[in-house]
Amino acid sequence: MENPFIFGRAVAGKHFVDREEELRELTASLISGQHIVLFSPRKMGKTSLIKRVFEDLEDVDALCIYIDLWQITSTHALAKEIVNSVVNKTYTSAEKLGRELKDLFRSLRPRVYLEMDGQIGVEFGRERVEEALRDALDLPERVAKNKGTRLIIALDEFQEITHLNGLPLEKIFRSTLQHHENVSYIFAGSERSLIDMIFEERERPFYRFAKQMELRPISGSVLERFIMDKFALSGKKIDRDAAAWIAEFSRGVPYYVQHICHEVWYMTGEVADIGLVEQCLNDRILPVLSSGFQTIWNRIRSQGQRRLLIGVANEDHPKIYSQGFIGRYELKSPAHVEKAVKSLNRAGLMDGNEIEDIFFAEWVRANFSF
Ligand SMILES: Nc1ncnc2c1ncn2[C@@H]1O[C@H](COP(=O)(O)OP(=O)(O)O)[C@@H](O)[C@H]1O
Ligand SMILES: [Mg+2]
Repeated sequence: MENPFIFGRAVAGKHFVDREEELRELTASLISGQHIVLFSPRKMGKTSLIKRVFEDLEDVDALCIYIDLWQITSTHALAKEIVNSVVNKTYTSAEKLGRELKDLFRSLRPRVYLEMDGQIGVEFGRERVEEALRDALDLPERVAKNKGTRLIIALDEFQEITHLNGLPLEKIFRSTLQHHENVSYIFAGSERSLIDMIFEERERPFYRFAKQMELRPISGSVLERFIMDKFALSGKKIDRDAAAWIAEFSRGVPYYVQHICHEVWYMTGEVADIGLVEQCLNDRILPVLSSGFQTIWNRIRSQGQRRLLIGVANEDHPKIYSQGFIGRYELKSPAHVEKAVKSLNRAGLMDGNEIEDIFFAEWVRANFSF
């Protein structure tokens, strides 16, 4: 039997759970031409939700294109990625595309060729990169109009645009996209400060350009059901207590649920219980992550930040600014705590007053006594 739990890549289809409301809202908005900003911290399920939305819309209501900005490190690469993914989604023959090239681009004169795997490849020079990008950004609208269909384009990890060419690039994006009538955009992002800066600051080009949507943790009871059903369908069993423990420990973040369950399922003979779950965590999951966590820990230069992490890892819902907490972990003063929290948030190690990665929290708890 195949392991029914998947982590490390976005899921859809039978692996996807919950998010019915978000799915309804997203599909309805996109079909009507409303652009969406989809925000959540990493691992909450944005990319999976996009994949799931595409399953519903693909071919019936629209042609769907996914672009991950995280993999793109230059403006030229961005233009090329947009052109290539749009072309491969909408053209089946390189000849036909070749004939229509002139009408599709204003200034760009790309070269079209056939790749070994049958994909259409499109190449163009690196000079005049800004004009190339404008042309690339306009391509989906032109194709959509030509074909009489709607295009939906997901730009995942959109905050990365700020690391490319920042504001000038945003301006080009915005000024091009605002004329599009047949293309709907999903801008997904996982860094709140950057996403807020792009879409919420009055003087930025994308100010209020798209409807905001935030993905929240999945409810514990839904996850508990999901875990038990997957075990049952694959011929194994898990105690209700153990399933509830995993859902709670995961704080409703689907990535952790899938990761833990993947390991637990593998180790389960007939019935998994809480003991087995804890054993998987300590013997299988944390050891693999440990060397990465050590590197992270070594990079934290301030003992105050380390002590704060230890305190947060060791207590349930700690009041980190209270006299008691500050005293127990030798944090000096509320102002010192505040400064440490800020640094750790900036480093991505904390999200608000919590440790961002539950496995890291567990590792800290297991390794440092106080
Ligand atoms: N709706 C869902 N149902 C089941 N598992 C999910 C769901 N959303 C996310 N996951 C799990 O979480 C992992 C991370 O999801 P992903 O979509 O990559 O999150 P994000 O894009 O927000 O970082 C996936 O690999 C999958 O294991
Ligand atoms: Mg993602």
